[in-house]
Amino acid sequence: MKRMQWMVLLALAMPVVAQAGEVAQARSPDGRIVVELDLNGEGRLAYRVSRDGKPVVADSRLGFIFRNGRQLLRNLALDGQATRSADTTWEQPWGERRFVRDRYNELRASFVEKDHDRRRFDVVFRVFDDGVGFRYDVPAQPTLRTAEIVQELTEFAVARPATAWWIPALEWNREEYLYHRTPLAEVGVAQTPITLRTDDGLHLSIHEAALVDYAGMNLMRGDSGALRAMLTPGSPAPVVRTTPFATPWRTIVIADKAGGLVESDLILNLNEPNALGDVSWFKPAKYVGVWWSLHLDQETWATGPRHGATTANTKRYIDFAAANGFRGVLVEGWNPGWDGDWFANGWGFEFRKPTPDYDLAGLSAYAGSKGVHLIGHHETGCAVSHYERQMDQAFALSARLGIDAIKTGYVCDAGQIERQDVAGGPVLREWHEGQWMSNHHLRVVKDAARHHVAINAHEPIKDTGLRRTYPNWISREGARGMEFNAWGQPPNPPEHEVTLVFTRLLAGPMDYTPGVLSLTGKGGQEIGSTLARQLALYVGIYSPIQMAADLPEHYAAHPDAFQFIKDVAVDWDESRVLAGEVGEYVAIARKARGAGEWFLGAMNDRHPRTLSLALDFLAPGQRYRAEVYRDGEGADWRGDARFRFVREQKTVARGDVLSLWLAGGGGAAVRFVPLGG
Ligand code: NOJ
Ligand code: CA
Repeated sequence: MKRMQWMVLLALAMPVVAQAGEVAQARSPDGRIVVELDLNGEGRLAYRVSRDGKPVVADSRLGFIFRNGRQLLRNLALDGQATRSADTTWEQPWGERRFVRDRYNELRASFVEKDHDRRRFDVVFRVFDDGVGFRYDVPAQPTLRTAEIVQELTEFAVARPATAWWIPALEWNREEYLYHRTPLAEVGVAQTPITLRTDDGLHLSIHEAALVDYAGMNLMRGDSGALRAMLTPGSPAPVVRTTPFATPWRTIVIADKAGGLVESDLILNLNEPNALGDVSWFKPAKYVGVWWSLHLDQETWATGPRHGATTANTKRYIDFAAANGFRGVLVEGWNPGWDGDWFANGWGFEFRKPTPDYDLAGLSAYAGSKGVHLIGHHETGCAVSHYERQMDQAFALSARLGIDAIKTGYVCDAGQIERQDVAGGPVLREWHEGQWMSNHHLRVVKDAARHHVAINAHEPIKDTGLRRTYPNWISREGARGMEFNAWGQPPNPPEHEVTLVFTRLLAGPMDYTPGVLSLTGKGGQEIGSTLARQLALYVGIYSPIQMAADLPEHYAAHPDAFQFIKDVAVDWDESRVLAGEVGEYVAIARKARGAGEWFLGAMNDRHPRTLSLALDFLAPGQRYRAEVYRDGEGADWRGDARFRFVREQKTVARGDVLSLWLAGGGGAAVRFVPLGG
């Protein structure tokens, strides 16, 4: 279903205005958010954002520094402006909600240099009720044919003191860091999305949308205290583009409550519609796999006596998947290239044939006979050009074998992606978040789509909502996942997942790989979570593919808790944040797509607390069986107490209040089944 209603279409040419001061303005549809553009006496352009008449972002500069030309930031004059409004609703093939409303007022302001080369660019603002997106749109022009962009001068001068949750940018371990919680004034160089809570309680998320053929934007604190764009490096400049081109959208989501950030669709709305057409060949699903055993070092990716990806072992997982209703079986270490130091040599990876002890075709047929699909694994070790030369044939092979989803991987230090434009030619190093990788990922996703294969990228470029345009880019990692609970030093602390929901997850789905009911990592390392908390992750962290990451024998030891993992949905009609504070706790309810069932997940930091949750989301006049999985008395994220767990049932209806006690590092998961009659 697609409903288009262009409400107003208004374009007015303005005479060139040269004096200082406000030159253009736009308001959100509800009138609460106002964006103003300002040219000062030097002709420097700035924007500011207010909400309910109070400043949110103070005057923040806009402009570019080029390598192959003069900077573009002074002597600017307004050369016209146009406004329009839109109010449409579009449908997600799968997602946190089925229908997404896209309602905004747009301002396009055109600027021209008053002297020199009379270079020009437009700034396009879209003002939504829940925030602002803006981009530079640079037209073709004789005095700016190719732009080698050394830096974008875009600033975000947050107008109120605030607390920030952020991970560092340009560090060796890419996006796999614990979140810092600091005063805004102590932010160093941060990745986006960055989450802020002003001292008077406003929540902000600064990020970007539609990162296409451009370098990822990081934020550094400038001398004035404003956050300023810092583009990920690239050669000869972070970004090289020929005019005309548009930058990604720079985004500021604004919400009163932390949950408002999670419920915002602003990032998706700023992406282009589905370019792939019918994508019903992908099915949101749960999967298991030869994976946790590798991270526990019980089995190996490499061939040899402990090789995990053997025919017999994979059959065991296929049988387990079929018996428990999981569609997918991921197998890592299935292909040549893992023997020896694969970290250091991605050039040895082969994606078109299996290792000798792995009967790929036979296993695919065996899986197919049981309604199960193998999930492919393409770890590139960052030899990205080497991978690109094989990927089309690898996707074709996968498609022939019913392997309709592939997990990709880019394990190497930041800045060490290997690019070789001509076979045998020089190898250049790129960044995971750089312009070349933004293009690489789209080459992968588009080629995979041709073969009806979906992509789940680990060590990815950050998510900027491109799943709207390319729905087969189903999920990605891009933060510390469960693997850190196997071998991480330190493992993920209880605050981690309740921070992810309000930071990394604002960008898009994450393949966190939850459900480790053994609560134990490598060498007996305790996982800082209760049993119930592992179940809550399936609702709390959205992804259209969700792994049941633990070993089959560990699930056999916890049949009660495992039942929730079998029952929980992965695709939703609606999602609502019932309660939450960044880094402290969250409770999310989601309605299963096309079904009457609701699911609820609640997760907690290390401080025990009780949540009283109004069940107002349930359908009126309908009674439900609530299957509650919660922390047992005395449960705690440390020691044996993390296994204290209660499964119970009660009858509930809309209007009831559910009281849930959450242990330190604990959680709760609830399935609401409509009662017949
Ligand atoms: C890191 C990924 O996050 C993990 O899931 C995978 O098992 C390893 N790389 C090997 O590819
Ligand atoms: Ca990883």
